Amino acid sequence: MPLSWFKAPQPQLSIGVGPWSARRVSAGIFYNRGRVEVPGGFSAFSSLAANHHPEALPRSATRSELDYAPVTVDLPGGSTGKWPSLWLRDNCQCSKCIHPDTRQRLVDTFSIPEDIKPLAVRNLENHLEIEWANDGHTSTYRYNWLSEHHLNQNSSEPNSVKFSPERQYVADDPKTYPTVLFDEVMSSDEGVRKWTDQIYRFGFSFVKGSPPTPEATEKLLERIAFIRPTHYGGFWDFTSDLSLKDMAYTTEGLGGHTDTTYFTDPAGLQLFHMLSHTNGSGGESLLVDAFEAAKTLYKEDPEAYRVLKEHGVSGHASGNEHVCIQPARPFPVLNHHPDTGELYQVRWNNEDRKPIVNASPEEISRWYAAARKFNEILTRKDMERWFQLEPGTPMIFDNWRMLHGRSPFSGKRRMCGGYINHDDFMSRYLLLRDGREKVLGRI
Ligand SMILES: [Fe+2]
Ligand SMILES: [Zn+2]
Repeated sequence: MPLSWFKAPQPQLSIGVGPWSARRVSAGIFYNRGRVEVPGGFSAFSSLAANHHPEALPRSATRSELDYAPVTVDLPGGSTGKWPSLWLRDNCQCSKCIHPDTRQRLVDTFSIPEDIKPLAVRNLENHLEIEWANDGHTSTYRYNWLSEHHLNQNSSEPNSVKFSPERQYVADDPKTYPTVLFDEVMSSDEGVRKWTDQIYRFGFSFVKGSPPTPEATEKLLERIAFIRPTHYGGFWDFTSDLSLKDMAYTTEGLGGHTDTTYFTDPAGLQLFHMLSHTNGSGGESLLVDAFEAAKTLYKEDPEAYRVLKEHGVSGHASGNEHVCIQPARPFPVLNHHPDTGELYQVRWNNEDRKPIVNASPEEISRWYAAARKFNEILTRKDMERWFQLEPGTPMIFDNWRMLHGRSPFSGKRRMCGGYINHDDFMSRYLLLRDGREKVLGRI
């Protein structure tokens, strides 16, 4: 790569900013009063945060540093960001490069010169401007947007585990169970915000004052998002007749489980509304906060936690003649965001689990021991929340977090409900909680 392009004239590099300090941006990249002494990068100071960096000895740049021509920006608030030129050009925020309505990328990434580099970097009042040397475009980035898009360079810690403090544990006291009113959810987005916020924070919520009909319940669920159809149908309304070959359609008790572990993307939310229960008794409902149980497992037996975090298992749904659903790949019981380490999904369904064959006998034995320990925690009395569902009070829960189950019952129960995708739930929730501008600003 020719080095001549680094000799950008000083005024272009420093418009609107204070004097350039000699500063070391990273190993091998060195600046001195607007002149790039060692090739490899461009630097800009936000006028709101003119940090001065200590002098450092120049070192020779590696080939890769030459190639990606990084731009370093000191941002308001004191942080410093560093991005490859190609990344910045690809993510230009101007209205020619991002569609102002759809927020979709318009720039053809692969027609950007691979050796794209700045001619000038300018700090303006609210945004950074980069004039590119070799594709005739000038890019703009709001400082807030840049702050939201620091490169996540510490993401590769493979063993990090985090539990979001936003996910709160509800005490075993029905008086404290999260509750909203049917009318507030149906009549205002604020009601939906409150409802989805409870589901997100606590894992479940009861809706009081609902008409005990399938029609009203379906409309209620659709306040969050469209209902997800499965091989059981869309919105369901059933009695215990085993018309669909799954244990859910019997009168037997069901231990705590999450639904649809046989899907690559398990159902996100599930709502139950008991419309009637005649000529019998029993059938109490169970919820278990598996995030709380996972936290306990992490404290009591980190090795078991690691096994359930790393070893994938598969499920299947095969009860009906024309169906044999299996996920695209095995998934662990405890699923974590690869960048943040945050636990985001528990998959736990012993009935639907396929035989584990993807490991050695020793590893499989370790998996059984870890699952036994997790099961012991999940079934502790203080983990279980038992309650009786009633007509007029639908219950919704996060199926990526809460186990559900029931005790056996006699008589005839009529239940209705449905699933919602987790991504659709989170979209509705975050837009209501943070507002569109803030949510889009993080994209
Ligand atoms: Fe279930
Ligand atoms: Zn642009």
